[in-house]
Amino acid sequence: MAALITTPRLLSIGGGALGELPALMARLGLKQPLTVTDPFIAGCGILDEATSLLTGAGLAWGVFQDTVSDPTTEVIAAGVERLKEAAYDSLVAIGGGSPIDTAKGMSVLHANGGAMRDYKVPNDIPKMGLPIIAIPTTAGTGSEVTRFTVITDTETDEKMLIAGVACCPTAAIVDFELTLTMPLRLTADTGIDSLTHAIEAYVSKRANPYTDGMAKNAMGLIAKHIRTACAEPQNRAAREAMMLGATTAGMAFSNASVALVHGMSRPIGAFFHVPHGLSNAMLLPEITAFSAPAALDRYADCARAMGVAEEGEGSQAAVARLLDALRALNDDLKVPSPKDYGISKARYDELLPTMAFQAIASGSPANNPRVPSQDEIIDLYRRVYG
Ligand SMILES: [Fe+2]
Repeated sequence: MAALITTPRLLSIGGGALGELPALMARLGLKQPLTVTDPFIAGCGILDEATSLLTGAGLAWGVFQDTVSDPTTEVIAAGVERLKEAAYDSLVAIGGGSPIDTAKGMSVLHANGGAMRDYKVPNDIPKMGLPIIAIPTTAGTGSEVTRFTVITDTETDEKMLIAGVACCPTAAIVDFELTLTMPLRLTADTGIDSLTHAIEAYVSKRANPYTDGMAKNAMGLIAKHIRTACAEPQNRAAREAMMLGATTAGMAFSNASVALVHGMSRPIGAFFHVPHGLSNAMLLPEITAFSAPAALDRYADCARAMGVAEEGEGSQAAVARLLDALRALNDDLKVPSPKDYGISKARYDELLPTMAFQAIASGSPANNPRVPSQDEIIDLYRRVYG
């Protein structure tokens, strides 16, 4: 079966790429963007840097700086109202995955009307919305190149997956210099999120030769550099590798999908407000152990791509090394279990059937090499609790 690949039309990648913003806008014929960001980026100088570039190019622009981590339908609605206040022709999203995901939701809802939940997977998004230029400041979610957004429904707490070409940014600026000040925890969590994207894209039932190369490349970059990026925040080589790894992992999973880890991670994030990368990290070793017997050779390739197994080593041995490496990474980066994170056992147990139901409903577990039943998902949630 042919693979359908979705990517942004333009990517500007490298140190100082932010300076290319006016040139990218000009190439796309865009003249009046609404910048979408969060209060931190608005206060730390990065938003000012971007808007000065826009002003310098003679462009009129507005700011919506009210995005929150784990974007909600409420914030999207406020953003859409802001869009209606002027003749904006584009969105410039600056920040981690949340501002970029918020801009995607705003673009979809502004063009199509209705409610965000009308467009959740597997529903289609009928109309393309305003073009988005995505500028990530974490290395990270890969949202700058993906055709996905994840929006929490304020009414139900459900983290909804919304997918389609309408969610893919038109252009992205991938400038690792914007990540040099990321704190350790954010570097670790977003880095493991990227690694999870690459591994899940590679073992996904929807993997294809185009995404395989990107996924393996990303795994190599991230596995080699994540500890250095955490320990030495100003290490430019490590930051550049992590940024490239995050973007290529994004390209891989956008076109091959994520799988069981992400499916189970979203409900933990939604109900217990665990950052996305951290809830992935809590799950990754155990879910890999559960899934590997169904795709031993593919997981062995992951171990080799990460440099934790030799090329000539058999698959069984390579997978054992992969599991050791993932557990060691969690230990080194101080990833807590749900229990150590302070999640109440009673509340966790009470929510297990709902979390398992939402995990399956997201569609991601169906891409996993081993597709679990609802009971097996509940059992896996119990095993990772700690
Ligand atoms: Fe993710």
